[in-house]
Amino acid sequence: MQLDISLLPQEAVNRENKCIIVLDILRASSTIVTAFDAGCKSVLPVATVEEARQLKDENPAMLLCGERNGLPPQGFDLGNSPVEYTAQTVSGKDLILTTSNGTRAILGAERNSTVLIGSFLNLDAVLEKALSTGRDILIQCAGTDGAFSLEDTFAAALFTDAFNRRVCNLDIGDGARWALYSVKGMAPVKDDFSTFEIQTVLRNSAHGKRLAAAGFDDDLTFCARQDTTDVVPYLNADKLIVNKSEKE
Ligand code: MLT
Repeated sequence: MQLDISLLPQEAVNRENKCIIVLDILRASSTIVTAFDAGCKSVLPVATVEEARQLKDENPAMLLCGERNGLPPQGFDLGNSPVEYTAQTVSGKDLILTTSNGTRAILGAERNSTVLIGSFLNLDAVLEKALSTGRDILIQCAGTDGAFSLEDTFAAALFTDAFNRRVCNLDIGDGARWALYSVKGMAPVKDDFSTFEIQTVLRNSAHGKRLAAAGFDDDLTFCARQDTTDVVPYLNADKLIVNKSEKE
């Protein structure tokens, strides 16, 4: 089994016939996972605010969700803060979601691949589901506005470490190996990172600093928590859903 990391959605890598794990730790993928954990029925990722508004006009029962510059555009029901996604707000609902980078990274994944949404919140569950596909794995970082992002690359390295501990003779690509070395050193086995250490990385990232300055510091604490849920959202045609058993 091969595993590699794509640091940016526009990177020229083969995305066909893989299991693609999309990571936008701050905050789209953490928010999507939280929405499903709170019982939402589906999430429709869309690229633009205009498209999202039009879909809402056509489907008034759907919730219009997302952000630009970190804040909900005018008329949106919810923003992109995971703490807004509770059973009270989203249980049983279908969501339309547009975010600056995360939803674009999802839309950029090849449709003949399995596309899973990963975060620290569901790391172990994503690992299991990805392995069950038997496919080569590509960890797709969303990045920030077309640039490298520390938090996604750090998470991709911890996912790589988890796969490497689990799979014998995992064929790790140079990008993934570089990320692994940079967070774990050359020694293959080191203790797990604590939630506090993950929070520190998120707080030191450029996007983490912007979110904290905009009043979303609680989101950094929230998104750094590990393995709080078993839900693994995946793309089914153009919508994200979860297997029912994951919410029973
Ligand atoms: C994104 O998709 O770029 C992010 O989720 C932005 C945010 O933190 O709201």
